[in-house]
Amino acid sequence: MSSKRYLLAIETSCDETAASVIADDFSICSNVVASQAKLHERFGGVVPEIASRAHLSRILPVIATGLDEAEIKREQLAAIAATDGPGLVGSLLVGLTAAKTLAAAWELPLVTVDHIEAHLFACRLGAGRDVFPAVGLVVSGGHTNLYRCLSAFEFELLGSTIDDAAGEAFDKAARILGLPYPGGPSISAAAANGDSAAIDFPRPMANSDRLEFSFSGLKTAILYAAKGHPNGTPAPPLTEQRVCDLAASFQQAVVDVLVSKSAQAIRQTGKRRLLLGGGVAANRSLREQLGQQAERDGFELIVAPLEFCTDNAAMAALAWEQLGRGAVASLDCDVRSGLVRKRRPQKLTGRR
Ligand code: KG4
Ligand code: ZN
Repeated sequence: MSSKRYLLAIETSCDETAASVIADDFSICSNVVASQAKLHERFGGVVPEIASRAHLSRILPVIATGLDEAEIKREQLAAIAATDGPGLVGSLLVGLTAAKTLAAAWELPLVTVDHIEAHLFACRLGAGRDVFPAVGLVVSGGHTNLYRCLSAFEFELLGSTIDDAAGEAFDKAARILGLPYPGGPSISAAAANGDSAAIDFPRPMANSDRLEFSFSGLKTAILYAAKGHPNGTPAPPLTEQRVCDLAASFQQAVVDVLVSKSAQAIRQTGKRRLLLGGGVAANRSLREQLGQQAERDGFELIVAPLEFCTDNAAMAALAWEQLGRGAVASLDCDVRSGLVRKRRPQKLTGRR
């Protein structure tokens, strides 16, 4: 019988209900993700109330499938892990409550996992070796944050978006162009048949020294380019080719900003390694162009494996590192909606 130890991780921070069994050598024994994309599609974005109800009906089958696929019995588990934030409160509550219940019933330690830290820890799963210290860029539907990462838990926020997140901008742009939700993959597919130089979209914050992002102006720019300007200037007809050109030009503007701010963060911090995680990290152009920038500037780029970019529970493998430090959560811990304790590197307390 294997001497490995296993933990069950649960992730429900947004609109994916996910469970994974992870061994203590970080091998992923199962990775189950039930997507709610179909439920939110007609709204063009995640509706929190619908998300939490869908988590409720899916959480138990997803956990059962996670254990079945890993062929792991509960007696073999050493801990239960769950995301406690940041994310949608109603969604987080479903996963964390399920985890607390199992931890209490099976008399196992509970470990709470930070969703942002987990997105960057996904890079560790692909690399198969330690990836810290580094600069970390998390680009998702809810976040566009640059960090100085001293370790898997000690993050200093260098800058973030002052309005929309990059993934949110992809989702809104797709809606404007009549492309399906989630917008990232559909913009990326349309962009493959378009000309990225067709429309000269702005590169917001590109000339600022600050490591901040802004995507709401870009969203307005694509709205006007697609539907016409409020001053009466009409837009060219929204033909299939025009949609592809708009998608390609929009994607290039987002990628340019993400690449240039990442390079700026590397220069400013003196770090030689960049980690890229989060749903938008699945974008092929971003992965390729950041890779080219890394080669030009001589830093190492580690991108989360594709399967661990969008929300999943496998990236909560981070919980093993926390267990190693004795960071067990209390059963009366709560969820966190926003980014807290991210301003300065923090040492773990008894709770985490
Ligand atoms: O990390 P994630 O699954 O959820 C959050 O934590 O927010 O990220 C979801 C976001 C969505 O906005 C989606 O449109 C975007 O990631 N996304 C992409 C791609 N795949 C997913 N954006 C650009 N290109 C992609 N290929
Ligand atoms: Zn996420």
